[in-house]
This record gives sequence, C-alpha cells and structure tokens, in this order.
Amino acid sequence: MQILTMRRPDDWHLHLRDGDMLEAVLPHSSAHFGRAIIMPNLVPPVIDVDAANAYRARIEKALPSGHDFTPLMTLYLTETTKADDVVAGYESGAITAVKLYPAGATTNSQSGVRDIETVYPVLERMAEAGVPLCVHGEETDPAVDIFDREAVFIDRVLAPMRQRFPELRIIMEHVTTRDGVDFVRDGPDGIAATITTHHLIINRNAILAGGIRPHYYCLPVAKREEHRLALRAAATSGNERFFLGTDSAPHLDPAKVSACGCAGVFSSINTMGCLAHVFEQEAALDRLEAFASLNGPRFYGLAANEAKITMIRREAPVVFPEKIETRSGPVTVFDPMFAIHWDVDTGA
Ligand code: NCD
Ligand code: ZN
Repeated sequence: MQILTMRRPDDWHLHLRDGDMLEAVLPHSSAHFGRAIIMPNLVPPVIDVDAANAYRARIEKALPSGHDFTPLMTLYLTETTKADDVVAGYESGAITAVKLYPAGATTNSQSGVRDIETVYPVLERMAEAGVPLCVHGEETDPAVDIFDREAVFIDRVLAPMRQRFPELRIIMEHVTTRDGVDFVRDGPDGIAATITTHHLIINRNAILAGGIRPHYYCLPVAKREEHRLALRAAATSGNERFFLGTDSAPHLDPAKVSACGCAGVFSSINTMGCLAHVFEQEAALDRLEAFASLNGPRFYGLAANEAKITMIRREAPVVFPEKIETRSGPVTVFDPMFAIHWDVDTGA
C-alpha cells in the first residue's frame, strides 16, 4: 500500500449549479477540496455582488456539517458590468475573480461579451485593482472550426488583451491545446491556466470513435492526442502557471443524452483518484501537490490550505458509482476508462 500526503487541494474552476443539483453535487467537492472558484453561469447568471452573496449563502446552506469548504465567488462579466461594483466586491472579499464568457461560447453564456472592447474599461480598472480575470478562451465566430476555437481566440482576443493590459491577472481556464499551453508557459508573468482532469485523460476519440458518447462531450471540446500530451506535460511539470480546475459541470442525464446534448463532464467525485493515476503514470506523483494544492493559491495571492489529505493506493480498484442521484434525476460520473486505485482517505 502506497501513501501520499499533501496539502488539501482546491478546485479553481467548478460548477455547483443550484437547488437539487447543488445539494447533490456539493458534498463530493467539499469532501476533498478546501476551496473552489465557483462558476457564475446560473440561470440567470451571477452578474452583481448581491447575487454572488446570495449564491454563496445557498452554497453554505447546502454544505454538509463537518465539511470545511470555502466557495470563492465570481462575477459573470457582461457588457454592462460596472467597474465600481467589481472593484468594491473584490476589495470586500465578496468575490475572488470575474469570469469572461464570450457570448454563445458555452452553457448559459448568452449574456456574455460580444465585443471584447466594450469591456476594456472594466478590464482596465481590474488591472489596477488586481482583480483576476478568468477566461473561457474560445472564439465564437461560427466560421471558425470548433477544434480551432481556442487557438483562434488566443490570436484574436487574448494576445491583444495582454498587450493592452499587461498588469491584468488572467487565468486561461480549461486549456485544451498545445497552443494554449505554449501561450501561457512562454509569455510574461501575470497569466496562468487551469487544466481539467478529463482533458488529461481523454482525447476527441473518446467522444466520437466507435459511437457518439455524450458523457465525454464538454467545452472546450477535447482535442487530438498531441494536445492531451501537451496538457499532461504542463500539469506534471510543476510549472507554477498550471493548476487544477476540474470544470466538473453536472447535467442531468436526459440533458446529456439527447439529439442536442449539453456540454459538461461531472468529475468531482473521482477527480483526485484520476489525477493520482495520471501523475503516477507520468512518474510525477511528487508534483501532484503543486498542481492541485499549491500553484493555484499562489497565483490567486492566497495561502495554501493548512490541512492535509492522505491518498492511499489500494490493491483493489476503488469503486465509484456510475451515476449519482439528485432529486431531479441522475447525473453520470466521469468514466476515465481505467481502474482507479487511488483513494482519498477521509478517515471514515
Ligand atoms: C460548462 C457548463 O455546463 O456549465 N460546460 C462545460 O462543458 N465545461 C460550461 C463551461 O465551463 O464551458
Ligand atoms: Zn466550466
């Protein structure tokens, strides 16, 4: 039996939803993670500090007793967001970051930004005040092939934004391409990227080869194998600019398995076991703590969690449910297509 002790991890990109779904999924995150950056793409989206405070209260109410978990709230950036609201929310601690969704890029992004220059005045104030910007980095021009949307977004939006606001702290979220990894790794300071668990494990064949598998469909969509390998190299390198954001994004099964299925992979329940497996395969178990527990807080200017977790490699595979139940129906759990031997020791 092998044992790995590390600082308690955080999840720097998480969808908790609301209502029945929140109640069902939250305990799986809060069992393992100390904090999470909470995505604001509810219906309606979390566009002001009052809405963020109300959402935080609902999360705290749904938290199982005994779980030590801090939701770090974000504001959904729209073309009418007020810079004063953002800065006041950040300075009071109500919000930790602002999220940029290009309009139409993903689930509930209709209220996002159509023309990036309309939010430049807000970005300018954020740069001055040190407010981090989380970016969904996909071009939405329908003429751009879906597999190229991240690379094109870098050229058309992200690179010019960095030039214009060199002081703005940017997190390129759920990076999925070699192009994204190179952009983040090789540029000047002030940029980082989150990487999801599933993008370290699947390439686009998982979605499309031998039948269409909607539970592997997410956005940004998984790319070719060469990109997955670039993500694995970045995540396991120890480089401070790369850290975990699971992008665990639950949808009810009927919404996934449909003629027009929703994007999102629900992985919070087995993410840590999957990650330990990946880092072990890459002979980098000693760097899992940097990826999951240290690099994220460093970039956000927060202390790492004091608490530790212990992961245990068991002889027998750890059994995870295929689905979890919510009061509104089932949600399918990410299947990494390998047996998971690593377990988080919750002391139970
Ligand atoms: C997310 C969701 O369902 O909210 N889906 C996804 O595939 N990742 C939205 C997002 O983060 O793009
Ligand atoms: Zn997401």
